Parts: sequence; C-alpha cells; structure tokens
Amino acid sequence: MPARKKRLRTIRRAVFDILEGGRRGEVTARILNDFVIVLIIANVGAAIVETVSWIQADYGAIFNAFDTVCVTIFIIEYAARIWTAPENPIFRQLNPWKARSRFAAAPLMIIDLVAIIPFFLEFLLPADFAILRVLRFIRFFRLTRYSTAMGTIGRVLAAERRSLFAAAVLMISAMLVSSVAMYLAERFAQPDKFGDVPSAMWWSIVTLATVGYGDVVPITLIGKVIGGVTIIIGLGLFALPVAIVATGFQNEIHRRDFVVSYGLVARVPLFSHLDADGIVQVVRMLSARRVPAGAIIVRRGEPADAMFFIVSGSVEVAVRGKPVKLIAGEFFGEMALLARSERTATVRALEPSELLVLESADFERLVENDPHIAEAITAIVDRRAGAEIAS
Ligand code: CMP
Repeated sequence: MPARKKRLRTIRRAVFDILEGGRRGEVTARILNDFVIVLIIANVGAAIVETVSWIQADYGAIFNAFDTVCVTIFIIEYAARIWTAPENPIFRQLNPWKARSRFAAAPLMIIDLVAIIPFFLEFLLPADFAILRVLRFIRFFRLTRYSTAMGTIGRVLAAERRSLFAAAVLMISAMLVSSVAMYLAERFAQPDKFGDVPSAMWWSIVTLATVGYGDVVPITLIGKVIGGVTIIIGLGLFALPVAIVATGFQNEIHRRDFVVSYGLVARVPLFSHLDADGIVQVVRMLSARRVPAGAIIVRRGEPADAMFFIVSGSVEVAVRGKPVKLIAGEFFGEMALLARSERTATVRALEPSELLVLESADFERLVENDPHIAEAITAIVDRRAGAEIAS
C-alpha cells in the first residue's frame, strides 16, 4: 500500500475511534460526544426561542449565524461518520463504498441527515415556510444516538408489544361501550353533544383518559351513572399500559445490571495469564448481558458484531450433526469475528445465563495487542472448524 494511502487509513481509523469510542469512555471521544450533545440542545433551544417574534426581529441575524455554525459542525460530523464507515468491523468484509451506503441507510444516520436537510431547504425555498422552521426540531432526535436509555425504551416497547396491544384493545372496547351507552342515554337531552356516536366518543376518550376537559358533561341521571362507571374503568385501564412499560423497564435494567468486575474477568480461562493491569483493561472492554433460557444470542448467517464469554449458565451451539453445549468459562461468537464473515451457527441459551460481551472493535484490539490470546482463540477456532468438517 502506498505511504499516502496508509497514512490516510491510519487517520480514518483514528477518526472512527473518536466518533465511535465514547462508549468505551475514551477521553477525546467523550469530549466530542458531550460537545455535540450540548450543541444539539442549544440549537433546538434557539429554534424554540426564535419563534418569539420580537426576539426574531431583534436578534435574527445572531440566531441565523449560530444555526449555520451548528449545521456546519453537524455536516462535518455526518461526513466523517460516512467516511469512516469502512472501519466499522460490521462492514469490514464489504468494499468501502458499499460499507458507506449500508451505513448511510442505518436509522441513526437517517435521523442525522434529516436534521441537516431543513437548513438547505430554507435556502432553496426562500419563502418563510413555517414548516421548514418546525423541521429543525427534528434535530432533537439526534440525541437518540447518545442515549442508551432511548434504546432501552425501544427494546421494552418491542418486548411488551403483545401486552400493550391487549391493553389497547381493552381501552378501545371500553371507549366503544361507554360512547354507545352515552349516546343512548343523552342523545335527546343534548343532541348537539351526544347526537351521534362519534361525538360521544370524544367525551368517552377525554373521560377514560381521566383528563376531563369538562366541555361535554352528562346531564341525565343515567348519563351521570354511565359517566361515573367510565371514570372508574378509565383509572384502571390507563394504569395498565403504564404498569406494563414500568415492569418491562425494570426487567430490562435488571437483565443488564450485573457488574463486570475484576474477579469475573480473572476467572475467564482466556484471560488467566493477564496481570492486574491487563485485566483492568479487559474489564473496560467488556459489558454484561443476562439472557433468559431459550434466548437466541447469535443466529447463523447474520453479521457479527461481538463475541461472548459465559460467566454462568450454558448455551447450545446448533452445529450440524450434533449440537455442542458450552458452559461457564467457555466462549463463542469468535469465529465470524476472526474470519470477518457471517455467523457460522446459531447459539441459544439453555438456561438463564450471564455473558460478558466483547464488541468487535475491542476484539480486534485485543487480538492485535496480545499474541497469547490470539493464539488461544485461533487454536479453539481450528478445533471447532475441524469438528464441523468431521461431522
Ligand atoms: P460465530 O461463527 O461467530 O457464531 C457461532 C458460534 O458458534 C461460532 O462463532 C463459535 O463460537 C461457535 N461454534 C461453531 N462451531 C462450533 C463447534 N463445533 N463447537 C463449539 N462451538 C462452535
């Protein structure tokens, strides 16, 4: 490789580490993360304040300049993320432009792009379209990249979707029954407010949600009785989704809450040769994951982004021929990382298990820096690959 190209690759790698290294707590990466977070918040704050007409009239030029600075930084950041995409271990086996186009289609990158676009639209469409100004608030969603809690909420909603759907069906049923009952009870007394079922539905939603604007109220005795029952049902029904999400949140947090300690890592055979400093470094690279019995941890054919060490419990590798059981102290998920290929087998938890997760960037760093670990992993990979050929 020519020296210039090599230097460019080194720079690209360093930029990638800064952009994506915040999670590992590296100082430069953390400073950049914090700076961008502050910038996003300041930018959205400015967009809100700017809608006050006298502020816009007196300080419009300053706000515009600040917006230009923010968007310039966002564009540089976006371009740098796209440029460094080939360094992402998930895309390493792809050619650089394919890696970039795949990365550009990722949801977080689309949010980043949508956050930039309004700036240019305002230039292209010089009229003062309020909608374009409003689009700037989308920038707030850029914070999802920096918030692991947002990811947790997404996972909780996905995991509890069946219970939430059931709660929604119950609520819709209550709304239908109460609005039809109210229509029957009040349609002659208040034809303007309860003269048809859709009008009664408005009352029903406001009452079931326990908001009660008071713009529409029953006046007949039977109407008041229906109203009272609806209020009580509403209290119970609205507590349901809140409880489902709260419990899901609790479970999700508990699932991840065991701490990666020095002792845990020192007990992993692959790391037993490391001295105290070495173990402290590995502790920083690992994160914890609890998986329930039956959970599929990696799926054959999927791209690989991490390898796993079993702390407690056991997993089954669906090797063709005879499934292999792996227990505490063993690891899996290393083959695809090493070969930069797709997962060679599906791995499922046989019981509730605790795993240590080593993401691919850290895996590469570890293998590059510690020949002993590289050798030990390669020896096991050879044995496993041999077993597969034999079966
Ligand atoms: P990977 O290909 O990343 O994902 C599936 C994992 O299953 C693989 O890495 C290995 O860690 C593991 N695996 C594959 N074949 C065997 C085997 N024959 N014995 C034990 N583990 C295996």
